[in-house]
Formats: sequence, structure tokens, C-alpha cells
Amino acid sequence: MMDYTGVLATSILGFLALRTIYHLYFHPLSKFPGPKIAAATFLYEFYYDIIKSGMYIWEIERMHEKYGPIVRINPREIHIKDPYYYDEIHAGSARKRSKDPKYAVAFGAPSSLVGTIGHDHHRFRRNILSNYFSKRSVQSLTPLIHEKVDKLISNFEKAYKAGTVLSLHLDFAALTADVITHYSYGWSHGYLDDSAGSRSNDLADAVNGLMVMFHINRFFPFLITAFRAAPPALLRWLQPCMADLFDLKSRLRRQASETVERQQEKNGTEGEGRSTIFHALTSLDVPANERGLDRLEDESALLLGAGTETTARAIAVSMFYLARDKDLLDKLRVELKTVLETPLSRASWTDLEKLPYLTGVVNEGLRLSHGMTLRLARVSPTEPMFYNDWVIPAGTPVSQSNYFVHMDSTLFPEPEKFDPERWIRAAEKGEYLNRFIVSFTKGSRQCLGMNLAYAEIYLALAHIARRIDFALYETTVDNIAVYRDMGIGCPKVGFLGVRAIVAGIVEE
Ligand code: HEM
Repeated sequence: MMDYTGVLATSILGFLALRTIYHLYFHPLSKFPGPKIAAATFLYEFYYDIIKSGMYIWEIERMHEKYGPIVRINPREIHIKDPYYYDEIHAGSARKRSKDPKYAVAFGAPSSLVGTIGHDHHRFRRNILSNYFSKRSVQSLTPLIHEKVDKLISNFEKAYKAGTVLSLHLDFAALTADVITHYSYGWSHGYLDDSAGSRSNDLADAVNGLMVMFHINRFFPFLITAFRAAPPALLRWLQPCMADLFDLKSRLRRQASETVERQQEKNGTEGEGRSTIFHALTSLDVPANERGLDRLEDESALLLGAGTETTARAIAVSMFYLARDKDLLDKLRVELKTVLETPLSRASWTDLEKLPYLTGVVNEGLRLSHGMTLRLARVSPTEPMFYNDWVIPAGTPVSQSNYFVHMDSTLFPEPEKFDPERWIRAAEKGEYLNRFIVSFTKGSRQCLGMNLAYAEIYLALAHIARRIDFALYETTVDNIAVYRDMGIGCPKVGFLGVRAIVAGIVEE
């Protein structure tokens, strides 16, 4: 009798052998430079990103040292380590750029902007929201952001009296979460309310939870569906990180459903949220198949998650260096006094943007927090891409991690150093270094919330640095430097974290 197990095993091995031969010798990318093992099998990347947890980024760096700026890093993806080519990968909307489905799926929000694969579909969805994030719209939010920054400063004053050890990244996440929930729904979650200590934050927890699972989701996308279907208690026991994300999504779905019902009662013509982002998403002008509950849940989760964690991280990195190096803080304060005469004065984003040293502090925080370290591959769906003598076939995922641009020592000498003055020196020489801040990526898929993020970072850093003295508590550069690429850059253990006490309140 035939041994079916043996036949099955032989068939699988035969299939894998044929696939490996195809990848190595017949695949359209077979002539591109790179190690044979990475071209032959996804297991190489699997080993570094899953077994060794977020370490493939360093293997890619080694590949570039050996093979040059263009490398085939897995059977289907090309990585180009050349900051001058970043804008070509992340081209503007005149040239089609789709998402790589293998990455997009891992965000766990397939109906959101970030999960939308096709170029044209993405343009349609983005247009619904883009006005809300224009510079003008964001400038009009200055009073809202001031109100939230004031609350945060008042919390720091309470922490000073109480001697509390703060987790600054959580305090900044409370600020950014309250701003984005207010802007999205017309009311804040109240993360900043009456607090003398750092609070945990379910939006930041959800993003961090997603990041723990990001590479796993990339390799095993079916797990997301399985997690979604699992009973909540079982999921929390099995996989607490994903439970945070799905709890958040379920809550947002309920909110979406209730808000839509209320809008329907008012025939969609009036009521709360008329000028909120959520109103734009549920407007009757949007085709019905684009405002179902799945889409509202996914887009809300993206907006609230993306709007909270990344911005908080950029503020926390700048604040870490200002707290660590008194000289930097003193220089910043001298400049701030030109627009903030007293520690209780208020300045607008427009005024603050003109300050060169503060701008250097903002840029260095963005640079050293990187946005995402993950390779956010883009696909040119119909036309090939060209790099030097190489023709990259249409449909190929092409990537370049932000980390390599930000740490390029030809652009940023001593790249690990937090040096606000490098921006002033570059401006004096007429160099446009801003081009190489790619934390938000570039082009048609660039971060939608970039203006909001800048406004929050400028307003928070300026007003807090003018008023509050922090002393770091058990926090060194090891707590913020990138050791792993978990989608976002993470230190050796856990997530970026900056702990501090309030050492003084500036009175004049
Ligand atoms: C320092 C702060 C921020 C950084 C570094 C950042 C970074 C990024 C990056 C790298 C992407 C591209 C992701 C991809 O290609 O898959 C992105 C997309 C996005 N971000 Fe941000 N983000 C920040 C703040 C914000 C804020 C405040 C919001 C407000 C809601 C926001 C909303 C979004 C949205 C909606 C997208 C999807 C855009 C699209 O696909 O068209 N982000 N962000």
C-alpha cells in the first residue's frame, strides 16, 4: 500500500526544491546582487526577524557593505541604501506607487489608508481626509493644542510637588492621544485629566502591541484573522499584545456605530462632529461601500494609533537629550525667551517654526526616533524603476529603511549625536538637509498627519522646555537607541522609555 505521508513529504520537498531553483536562476530578480541564501528562501529573513526578533535590519546593512547600494534582500524584494534614491521609491502622486500587500496586511487594519494596496483606491480614500491635515487646518488647532499642553504642564507641576517618577513617553502619549481623539471625534479621552503621574494609555499600548506582532503578522497574516475570531479572554491569555489592539478596535467600532446612528437620526445634516474627521469619514457624500463599519473601525484605529505613539516618541527623544545635556537646554531657553517672554507666555506654531535652534531640536528628535524603522516597501505597479544600470521590474517591492537615511554619516556626521546646530550650520551653507528627514516617508503615501505632528512637537517642546526642568531617572541612551527593528525602532529590552522626575519649575 502506498505510503501517503511519504508521497506528501516528497511532493513538498520537490516543490520547495523547484521553487528554490526558480528563485535562484529564473526569477526576474535573479541577476540582482545579494547573498544566494536570501534570494533562495524567506527563511533567512524569518530567522533574523522572527527567531532573533527584529535583527534583519543589521543583516541588510552587512549585505550593503558587501554587495553595494542595491541588494536583493529576499526572493521578491529589492533594498536600495542610497538616501538620494528615497524620493524615487516614495514618489509623488503623479507616479503610481502601490503598497506591498505583505507589509500592508501586518498593520491589522486592511480597510484603512495604511492598509490600502492600490494607488487609485488609496488616492480616493486619502482625498476624503486630506483637508483636515492641511497646514491651514492644523494652524487653526493651535488653541486646542495649547489647552492640552497647559494641562500637561499642570500635571508636571503636580508631579513636582509629589516627587513622582514620570514615564515621559506616556505623558507625551497622553497629550497626543487627547489631541487626536478630540480632532477625530470632537471630544477627548481625557488621558491628561487631573494626573500627577504617568498613566498607561490604551492607544499607545495598542500600537506597541501591534509592533510586538508586526513581523509575525507579516509572515503569518492568517494569524490576524484567527486572533480576531478568538474569544477575548482566550486572546488576552494567549496574546495580550494583540488583545490590546482588538479591544481598542472593538471600542472604536461601537463608537462608530453609535455615532452613525445619531447622525442618521439627524438625517446626517447636523449634530456633533460636523467639523471632525469622523464626520468626513461618515459623510453621505462618501459612497456607502466606503463608510461601512469595517472601514470606520480600521481608519479610526489608524488615525488614533498613528496620531498618538510616533509623535510622543519624537517629543520624548528630544526631551531626553535636553534633560541629559544642560547646555542644550540653556541654548534653547535663550532662544525661546525671544517669543515666550515669561514661562507662562504662549506662542503659536507659526512663531515657533521660525526659531532655528528649536527647529534643530525638533529635527533631531524626529531623526533619532526615525518614525518607523521598518522597510516600508513601495511597488511601481506598471512601470519599471531604474537605479544606476539596474532595471527593476514593475511589480517589485522596493524599499529603503528610514534608519539608514537618518544614520548616514555623509549627511549627518556623527549620526548618533543629538546636535541641533547641525541644522543651523547646514542652512548657513545653503544645504537643504530637511530633504533627508524621512520619518514621515515621502510622496503619495507620506504620513497624512505630518503637519499635526509638527504642530504638536513644536508647541509641546517649546512650552514645556521654557517652564519645566527634568532630571532623568534610570534612563540612558540605551533606553532610546535602536537595537531592534520591530516596525518601530526598539531598544534591547521593551520599548523606548524615558523616565524622569521634575527637578524644578522655572519662574521667570
Ligand atoms: C512624529 C510623528 C509621526 C510620524 C513619524 C509618522 C510616521 C508615519 C509613517 C512612516 C507613515 C507611513 C506608513 C506606511 O508607509 O505604511 C505614516 C502614515 C500615516 N500617518 Fe503618520 N506619523 C506621525 C504622526 C501622525 C499623526 C499625528 C497622525 C494623525 C492622525 C498620523 C496619521 C497617519 C496616517 C493616517 C497615515 C497613513 C497615510 C496614507 O497611507 O496615506 N501620523 N505616518
